[in-house]
Amino acid sequence: MTPIKECLINKSTKNKPIWLMRQAGRYLPEFREIRKKNTNFIELCLNEKLSEIITLQPIDRFNLDAAIIFSDILMVPFGLGQRVEFRKNFGPQLGDVNIDQLYQLEDKFFSERLNPVYKLLENLKNSHKLKNKDLIGFVGAPWTLLVYMLNKVSPKNGLSKNFFKDASMIEDILNILNRFIKLHIKNQVKAGATIIQIFDSWAGLIDDNFEKYLYQPTSSLVEFTKNLGVPVICFPRNIKDYKTYCEIIKPDAINIDYNVSLDNVLKNLKIPIQGGMNPKILLTDKETLKIETKKYLDIFKSYPYIFNLGHGVLPDTDPNMVDYLVKMVMDY
Ligand code: CP3
Repeated sequence: MTPIKECLINKSTKNKPIWLMRQAGRYLPEFREIRKKNTNFIELCLNEKLSEIITLQPIDRFNLDAAIIFSDILMVPFGLGQRVEFRKNFGPQLGDVNIDQLYQLEDKFFSERLNPVYKLLENLKNSHKLKNKDLIGFVGAPWTLLVYMLNKVSPKNGLSKNFFKDASMIEDILNILNRFIKLHIKNQVKAGATIIQIFDSWAGLIDDNFEKYLYQPTSSLVEFTKNLGVPVICFPRNIKDYKTYCEIIKPDAINIDYNVSLDNVLKNLKIPIQGGMNPKILLTDKETLKIETKKYLDIFKSYPYIFNLGHGVLPDTDPNMVDYLVKMVMDY
């Protein structure tokens, strides 16, 4: 069994496996080299040859315990036929949603548009570089994808005033997403993903209607993934109540963000924990990194814990700091 599965399934506390969100990305010069020549991000995600190279770049460098496929949560709106672009120094920009069109969409249309993602997994599945490692597939949670589909830009750039107004539109889109995110999960598992992570980056925006917007849509995906025989890790960023979330949703593990109290999660959670350290620590110096990393390793010493961050690796990170971190966790 892989070190991560030992932790997720056998609840082993012996080793502390490590992988990092956004481990493939702009902080790596070898990624920037490829990105420079491939200015269209969606096209790059649909290029299975280059996506394979990019997925393996951090594995080649750091020998992490898992590869996460080079893709994006916004590939689902793209698969649904919505226009998705990534603008430099701005982020994603989506086109309008046509709800009638979405209701008529067939599975085949979606699966064919995203076929290169599944090809990527198939090609990686038997790579000798991933021996005794996991191959992580992922999806955005319905709520977070809804936010991008309706708001059309990242909420970082402002949330539209009318966002919560059209409750029936929200309900329609959540229904459609439930169907197609499941299809995306099923296709990824069939193609070779050994773990699924669900990113709910904007879960923290929900302050009412948790049942309808957060718990119900995500539980449905977690149950679906478990029934496919694959462990599922949830990352609901910035929520207030991790205990209730875990009790209702029952993922195999929970990725915590860096605002949570570690004593609290240790006391209240009963499932394996992943992540937590602030990615900004990687921008400091080795001494600070060492102290902070040790803090997490010590606190979770006798708890099933997968080392990761509280959010993705930042673009300004020095790869040498990542190397130092990985070695430290592996030698612990
Ligand atoms: O290494 C990995 O983690 C795998 C690849 C991955 C990407 N995006 C590649 C990417 C994963 C798992 C994601 C998830 C994702 N994408 C999330 C959830 C996690 C989070 O960060 O909260 C979200 C919200 C998105 C949507 C998205 N994609 C945004 C808002 C942006 C632009 C801003 C940014 O963070 O860069 C992206 C672009 C993106 N996704 C890049 C990469 C490597 C950068 C593309 C570039 O080179 O410009």
